[in-house]
Amino acid sequence: MDYLPDLETIDGVTFELRPHHRTPTKKQWTCLRKNRSITNRYLELAEEFQRSRIVEFGVDQGGSTSFFAKLFQPEKMIAFELSDEPVSTVMDFLSEQDPEGRINIHWGVNQADQAVVPRLLDRAFGSHAVDFIVDDASHLLAPSTATFEMLFPRLRPGGLYVLEDWSGDHLDELAIVTAFMNDTDGEFARRFRAAALQNTNRSKPMSLLICQLVVASGRNPDWIAELRIRGGYCEVRRGAPTSRPTHRLVTISASSAKRCLRSRPMHALFLRLR
Ligand SMILES: C[S@@+](CC[C@H](N)C(=O)[O-])C[C@H]1O[C@@H](n2cnc3c(N)ncnc32)[C@H](O)[C@@H]1O
Repeated sequence: MDYLPDLETIDGVTFELRPHHRTPTKKQWTCLRKNRSITNRYLELAEEFQRSRIVEFGVDQGGSTSFFAKLFQPEKMIAFELSDEPVSTVMDFLSEQDPEGRINIHWGVNQADQAVVPRLLDRAFGSHAVDFIVDDASHLLAPSTATFEMLFPRLRPGGLYVLEDWSGDHLDELAIVTAFMNDTDGEFARRFRAAALQNTNRSKPMSLLICQLVVASGRNPDWIAELRIRGGYCEVRRGAPTSRPTHRLVTISASSAKRCLRSRPMHALFLRLR
């Protein structure tokens, strides 16, 4: 069957949606590593977050940075990427499309760096809260949680924190089960065992953070006003807390204390969200 490109044109720039590729099929297009469903959600949010303050983690070739630049026309946007090699396509795009320098990419920064990330946010936004944060970087539990804990308190009430592709581990599980079912000669089982032996320190899946957020939204609705989860996309809308969430923990009854203990990891997260 012929390939039909999935395109989205914003303000004269054509984005080709290719979640599993890093380059477009035509030179004049910009590759956006997002599927149609996630792209449509960002299109829905465009009006609400016009001229806003934005932070992005995970730049790769810069398709999403260029997309957010055109879609939201941010007042200020900073983006972080672990690789310390600037990508010329996005740098050229920004020098042409953002002559005022409202958008800055910081190459060679780990999303979980608790010294550098806050310092660069302070430099970009001063004492202003942020409106919109997108984490499409490591998709690993520890760094994603560290970034969430650092940045969620810096969102303004009503602001959005997006976690992309949190379900990758589980999609892998599905692929592994299917491969085992079709493994008539035992070759996949042999390769799987060898790979598992090499990779003994695999971390817990990022979905644990999503589960924690679900519990937190029930426990602290004043902090998390809304959670939207669709496929691997999770959106957390910040509420307007009037008190510190930990206050409730010290005045609870014995029976609710028992329930609390069962969801202890969540309290650990919120103890740090102050
Ligand atoms: C899925 S790609 C980002 C795609 C991009 N947002 C887009 O839609 O076009 C993930 C990127 O995150 C970066 N990354 C991985 N771990 C990171 C970390 N700990 N801190 C910052 N960036 C990281 C990777 O180098 C990679 O370029």
